[in-house]
Amino acid sequence: MRLRSTALTKDADPACALVIDGRSGIDPAGSEEARREFRNTLGHFATGVTCMTTLSPTGEHVGMTVSSFNSLSLDPPLILWSIANYAISFGCFRVGDAFAVNVLSAEQENLAVKFSIASADKFESVELHDGLSGVPLLAHCVVYLECIVEARYPGGDHDIIVGRVRRIFNIGKSPLLFHGGSLRALGD
Ligand SMILES: Cc1cc2nc3c(=O)[nH]c(=O)nc-3n(C[C@H](O)[C@H](O)[C@H](O)COP(=O)(O)O)c2cc1C
Repeated sequence: MRLRSTALTKDADPACALVIDGRSGIDPAGSEEARREFRNTLGHFATGVTCMTTLSPTGEHVGMTVSSFNSLSLDPPLILWSIANYAISFGCFRVGDAFAVNVLSAEQENLAVKFSIASADKFESVELHDGLSGVPLLAHCVVYLECIVEARYPGGDHDIIVGRVRRIFNIGKSPLLFHGGSLRALGD
């Protein structure tokens, strides 16, 4: 009985219930400042950096920088990532079936920046390979995973895209990393 009432007290005021190493908990859905802190907190999880590419319904090249990529299943081979519903590319990734995961190398910081800025000329002067279903592959990446959309799930202001992997290339270069809001190489 006493355990149950303790749990209820904590649930009622989760932000004040616990202090860890001098830090109080924060409700990430609270103020504007708390939402910023949520974004900063997520940024402490170090990731690689990818560029997701696809084709628009009229066949134009589409791409965007993405760090939410992750593995999902080995058998069948599935991966996932999430796309903001306010991204200009959202409509193309929503209707298109074929897409490619281009894992960026430590030398491709310029592409990570270029493909994170909404603009019409992201692919200008970018060397490409012609992937499955005509989806462009950015030259000089670490690995490539060419996929077909298996499922889409809504998740707040993002959609989760699950891809079934059809073909992989493992080139084996050193990857670009994203941590604390900065792009960096291994060991930096
Ligand atoms: C390192 C890094 C990681 C990013 N990861 C994601 C992501 O996982 N999902 C997403 O929707 N946007 C992500 N973005 C933001 C998009 O790249 C950015 O909004 C881009 O402008 C989208 O292109 P578009 O608006 O032309 O579609 C990331 C940006 C950077 C720099």
